[in-house]
Amino acid sequence: MRVRVYRDAESVARVLAREIARCVNAGPALVLGLSTGRTPIPLYRELVTLHRAGRVDFSRASTFNLDEFAGLSCSDPRSYCAFMHRHFFDHVNLRRARIHMLDGAAKHAARECLRYERAIARAGGIDLQILGLGMNGHIGFNEPARALVAGTHPTRLRPASRRANAALFGHRVSAVPKAALSMGMATILHARRIVLIATGASKAGCVQRMIEGPVTPRMPASFLQLHRHAEVWLDRAAASRL
Ligand code: GLP
Repeated sequence: MRVRVYRDAESVARVLAREIARCVNAGPALVLGLSTGRTPIPLYRELVTLHRAGRVDFSRASTFNLDEFAGLSCSDPRSYCAFMHRHFFDHVNLRRARIHMLDGAAKHAARECLRYERAIARAGGIDLQILGLGMNGHIGFNEPARALVAGTHPTRLRPASRRANAALFGHRVSAVPKAALSMGMATILHARRIVLIATGASKAGCVQRMIEGPVTPRMPASFLQLHRHAEVWLDRAAASRL
């Protein structure tokens, strides 16, 4: 894994936004994998700024988000879909038909996951996957477990992940859905290039285990060690235990 360390979270966002813009400008039909959570918010803000300044055109790009809460449709303001519209989609010129989200409210979750895998394949696979890092080492909603699932799948959320997502639900952990749909570990590892971002001292221990620890399903992000073009972009605080 290639590790890059920047002074602070804002610098990570600024440099990565410029790098994404460079990739989109070099290959306008770029397929981007996107993540939610607090970490990528400054990145989306920077991308919107670049777009407004005429420095990046998303009109031919496609996006696939990593995950969604079970039971929530895009019209629910607590959904990851609504989050993405608020922070990014509504402010750039991505074509609606090229924005892909898992439908948390789909009646048949397994069928929805299969549809998603096919849509990714039809788009030619993911060129650049942006990831955050869960406090318990999850990526997407691939939670620490005895074994990981390869493809996009319905999954149950661990208490730690429900706590980490409580802010979207009025800080009520009990209101956070117990299940989600998520890209699987193989779906993620098939991306041609992966950039995981982690910022803040609270992620330092997890970052250290992800990079220097063994590859284990107990730390799902450690599987990125197996990828040829995986990069970890950190601020100094998140890199403090390396
Ligand atoms: C959620 C998402 C993950 C994300 C993680 C980190 O649980 N499912 O894809 O990476 O949160 O969140 P944060 O950036 O808020 O720490």
